[in-house]
Amino acid sequence: MTALLEVEDLRVAYGKIEAVKGISFKVEAGEVVTLIGTNGAGKTTTLRTLSGLLRPVGGQIKFQGRSLKKTPAHQVVSLGLAHSPEGRHIFPRMTIEDNLRLGAFLRSDKQAIDKDMQRAYDLFPILGERRKQAAGTLSGGEQQMLAMGRALMSQPKLLMLDEPSMGLSPIMMQKIMATIAELKAQGTTILLVEQNAQAALSLADHGHVMEVGNIVLSGTGQDLLHDESVRKAYLGED
Ligand SMILES: Nc1ncnc2c1ncn2[C@@H]1O[C@H](COP(=O)(O)OP(=O)(O)OP(=O)(O)O)[C@@H](O)[C@H]1O
Ligand SMILES: [Mg+2]
Repeated sequence: MTALLEVEDLRVAYGKIEAVKGISFKVEAGEVVTLIGTNGAGKTTTLRTLSGLLRPVGGQIKFQGRSLKKTPAHQVVSLGLAHSPEGRHIFPRMTIEDNLRLGAFLRSDKQAIDKDMQRAYDLFPILGERRKQAAGTLSGGEQQMLAMGRALMSQPKLLMLDEPSMGLSPIMMQKIMATIAELKAQGTTILLVEQNAQAALSLADHGHVMEVGNIVLSGTGQDLLHDESVRKAYLGED
C-alpha cells in the first residue's frame, strides 16, 4: 500500500542557500508524524513546500500516489492537504465565523460546510461562543484554535500544523495537544511540526529530527522520546 504522503530526497533552496537538503519521510493514513528540530532546521520550509507555496529544487512529493511538485497551492488544498501556518495568520478584523468559512472557500457543499462549522465549534467551544466577534479579540491560544479549525474546514486528508504550541501558556499548550490527540482519535492524519519535542513525540506515531536541512534521526515517537541524544538536545536533559 502506498503511503498518504511520500517525500523523497526533497531539496528546497532560497536562492543559493539550500534550506532543505534532501529529506525523505512518509505519512501513512491515520498517523501522526512529527518533525522536530531547532530554529532554522527547515521545518517550516518543508511544510510550505508540501503546500505548494515554495517549489522544490529536487526530489519528489507524492500525495495519494500523485506528484505535487508542480501543483499550485489552491489545488493542493482541494486535493486534501491543509496547512495551519506558523504564526497562525488569521484575519483579525473578520469575525471568527468568517475566518472559519474561509477555510472552506473551495467547497460548495453548503450543508456539509455548516456541519463542519458545527464540528469546529464542538471541538473548540470558545469559537462558537464568540463566532460573531472579530478574530483579533481572541487570545493567542484561541487564535491557534481558530487556525486549526480553519484548516479543518477544507476537509483535509492530511492536516499540517506548524508549531501550534508556539508562545502559549502551559495550560493552553496542553489544550491544543489534547485537541490534536482527539483529532487523531477521530482518524485525522496529521503532520505536526513542533519545537516542543516532548509534547509532539508523546502523541506521534513516528518522528523525525531535523538539523540544518537534514533529517538526522527517525523513529517511533516513543523511541525518540527515550533516545539519549534526543533527550539531551531537545528535552533539556544532561
Ligand atoms: N524567505 C526566506 N529567504 C531566505 N532564507 C529563508 C527564508 N525563509 C527561511 N529561510 C532560511 O531557511 C532556513 C530554514 O528555515 P525554516 O523557517 O524552514 O526553519 P524552521 O525549522 O521552521 O525554524 P523555526 O523552528 O525557527 O520555525 C533558515 O536558515 C532560514 O533562515
Ligand atoms: Mg518554522
